Amino acid sequence: MTSDHPTRAPGPDPLSPVVDDRLLEGEAKARAVQSMFDRIAPRYDMVNRIMTFGLDVRWRRRCVRELRLSPGSTVLDLACGTGDLCRDLTAADLSPVGVDFSAGMLGSARTTAPLAQADVSVLPVPDASIDGVVCGFAMRNFTDLSAFFDELARVLRPGGRMSIVDAASPANRVLRAGHNLYFGRIVPLIGGLLSDRSAYAYLPRSLGYMPAPDELVGLVRRAGFSDARRVQLTGGAAQLLTGTRDPGTSGS
Ligand SMILES: C[S@@+](CC[C@H](N)C(=O)[O-])C[C@H]1O[C@@H](n2cnc3c(N)ncnc32)[C@H](O)[C@@H]1O
Repeated sequence: MTSDHPTRAPGPDPLSPVVDDRLLEGEAKARAVQSMFDRIAPRYDMVNRIMTFGLDVRWRRRCVRELRLSPGSTVLDLACGTGDLCRDLTAADLSPVGVDFSAGMLGSARTTAPLAQADVSVLPVPDASIDGVVCGFAMRNFTDLSAFFDELARVLRPGGRMSIVDAASPANRVLRAGHNLYFGRIVPLIGGLLSDRSAYAYLPRSLGYMPAPDELVGLVRRAGFSDARRVQLTGGAAQLLTGTRDPGTSGS
């Protein structure tokens, strides 16, 4: 499985999706995100475990459990990176296929699942052909969330399930203050020391791309998942978005 558009058009290649203190949008954002992940791929897993105290492992397992699909079901792991969710899906007796546009991340992947280099907004997959979709810690990096959810609705069969986990900001004011300190100040320091300063400075800034929780759930419902819901994990440091593909509706 390959895409017509796995690599972005040539052009200036900013080191991070934050330029002059502004968050990039559109094609410029996609290009910066792709080259940033190519760059940080070799140490990505190690930095994740350290900066989340291993909680990312728990959050991904919960994401897979929420699929509630029968053994053998085909599940796309969108923006699969180094394949952590693919491994959890395999362990849960599901049949994953990983998709990511970063050659660096795919090259560092440790999974037995088939992998494809493609953009998640144009999946090289027929309509209604997939049982489930997962996506871990990537939504903030996409350029058009509404188009992304429409694409999920297109490839999932009626009754198919989606389960998406991502970083978040706690709703509770006190927890949010502590989280802002850790995620906004300490994580960039850890990431800068162990990996790439500009990439881990972007990480807390990337939450700025996320719509408000109600708006996010509204986008998913409108795409064709009328039972969509969002729950906070670990006090709101992460969020889980789940839904079931409605029968007989179009995602676009
Ligand atoms: C933070 S990593 C998450 C990797 C993995 N899902 C995990 O749970 O660790 C985000 C991934 O999203 C990928 N990505 C971002 N935008 C993408 C897009 N439009 N199409 C495909 N992959 C994308 C990046 O290349 C990167 O591997």
